[in-house]
Amino acid sequence: MHSLHRALLDILRQNCLHPYLSYFGLKFPEIPPTYQPVVIFDEAIKTDFKTHKSRIDVLHGQGERMDSPPRSSLAKFWGLDPTCVFLNHGSFGAAPFAIREEQRKWQDLLEEEPVRFYEDLAMGFMENSRKALAEMLHCDAEDLAIIENATTGVNTILRSLVFKEGDEILVPDHAYQACRNTVDFVAERWGAKVVTVEIPFPIEGPQVALEAIMAGVSDRTVLAMIDTVTSPTGLLMPFEELVHQLESKGVAVMLDAAHGIGMVPLSLDELGTSYTTSNCHKWLCAPKGSAFLHVRKDLQHLIHPLTISHGMSFPLGDTTRFRHEFDWTGTRDISAACSIPATIEYMENMVEGGWPAIMKQNHDLVIEGRRILCERLGIEVPCPEDMIACIATLPLPDGGSGGIPLHEPDPLHKVLQDKYGIQVPVWSWESPKGRYIRISAQLYNHVDEYHYLADALASELNL
Ligand SMILES: Cc1ncc(COP(=O)(O)O)c(C=O)c1O
Repeated sequence: MHSLHRALLDILRQNCLHPYLSYFGLKFPEIPPTYQPVVIFDEAIKTDFKTHKSRIDVLHGQGERMDSPPRSSLAKFWGLDPTCVFLNHGSFGAAPFAIREEQRKWQDLLEEEPVRFYEDLAMGFMENSRKALAEMLHCDAEDLAIIENATTGVNTILRSLVFKEGDEILVPDHAYQACRNTVDFVAERWGAKVVTVEIPFPIEGPQVALEAIMAGVSDRTVLAMIDTVTSPTGLLMPFEELVHQLESKGVAVMLDAAHGIGMVPLSLDELGTSYTTSNCHKWLCAPKGSAFLHVRKDLQHLIHPLTISHGMSFPLGDTTRFRHEFDWTGTRDISAACSIPATIEYMENMVEGGWPAIMKQNHDLVIEGRRILCERLGIEVPCPEDMIACIATLPLPDGGSGGIPLHEPDPLHKVLQDKYGIQVPVWSWESPKGRYIRISAQLYNHVDEYHYLADALASELNL
C-alpha cells in the first residue's frame, strides 16, 4: 500500500475523520447561513406527513392518548420522533445524531473532490473500516467485504455457489423471508432441494433447535443457512454449536447474522464459519446501508460480488482477487461504510464497559419488557432467557394465525401506531403458525415504554 495511505490510516484509526482533514490541510466548506436543506416531497407524501403530525396533535389535544412514557437518559443522543414510542430497533436500527453528522461529513468530503476521493483515498478509508470491524469481530480484515446489507450478503454467497442437482440446502422455518426467497430461487435454478426444518415456538431451549436442525442433515446437505437471531421469533440460536457441528460434518454454513454485530459477541476466526453476513445499521447503530460479508480464506475463490467490476481484471499485485473484486463494485456512496470506525468508538463510549455492557443492558431491558407484557397479557414466556439477545417475540393471546399475509400490514400494528404512537412489529407467520409481536430494546428505551405497550395491548385485545 502507498506509504501516504498507511500514514493516513494510522491517524484515522485513532481519530476518525477530522485529523485526516487537517493532515491534508483540508477543511469542510462553510455552509452559508441561508442554506436550507432541499427536501422534495411529492404531494401525497406531504399530505400523509401532515396527517400524521396532526393526528398526534389531536390525540394529545383531546387527551385520548395515554400519557407518553419517558425514554432513557441516553435517548437525547438519538433524533427519534418524540411523539413515537419506538420499540422496533430490530427492523432497521437507528443511528445517533453524531453518527448521522459523521456520515454527512464523509459525503461532504466526497463531493469536495470526487476524483481524489474515489481514486486516491476510498480504498484506504474502506480498509480502515474493515480493520475496525475486524478488531471487534476477532478476524482478519482481509477476509471482510463491506457491503450494503445482509440481504446482499446472503445473495452474494448463494448466487456465487455452484450446486449439483439433488444437493440439499437446509433452512430452518424461522428464516428471514427475503433470504429464504434467495435460497428458493437458487435451488430452483440448479435443481437443488430445499430442506425446511421446523423449529417449535414456543421452544423449551437451545438444545431443541440444535437437535431439530442436525436431524435435517443428510449426506446430500451441502449448505445450511443459520440465523444468529431469528427475525420473526427473535430466538438467539445456538449458532456457535450449530456452526461447529455442521461444518465438522462438511456442511458449509451461511450465517445470517443480520442481528449480529453489536447484539451478540462474534469471534469469526474462532467460529470458523464458511460465510457470515451482518448488518452494521442495526445493532451497531451505523448509518443505513452498512454491512459486512466475511468469507473464510479457503472459500474466497468461489465467491464474487453481485456486481462484477474492474477488480476481476485488475493486476493482482500483493493482494487477492477477492479483495480486488469486493473493494470496487462501481461508484457508490460509501459514506455509511466510512462511518463504521467512528460508530464503533462512539457507541462503546456511551456506556461504561463498552460493547459487552451495551449488549447486556439491552438484553436485560428486553427481558424485563417481555416479563411486563407476559404478565399483563397472561402469556407464558415462549422461550428461556438464554434464547433472547435484544429482541423478544411473543405470540399474541388472540390465538392462532391472524391470517394476514406478511406483506400486508396487520391491523393491530396500525392501531398501535396510529392510536398510541407505538412503533412495534405485529405479524402473522405461517410456520410456526401464529400472530406475533416483537419488541426490541436499545439504549434509548425505558422500561415504562413496555408498560405503555402492555396497557395499549390489553385495551385493544380486551384483556
Ligand atoms: C435475520 C435477518 N436476515 C436478513 C435481514 C435483512 O436485512 P437487510 O434488509 O438490512 O438486508 C433481516 C432484517 O431484518 C433479518 O432479520
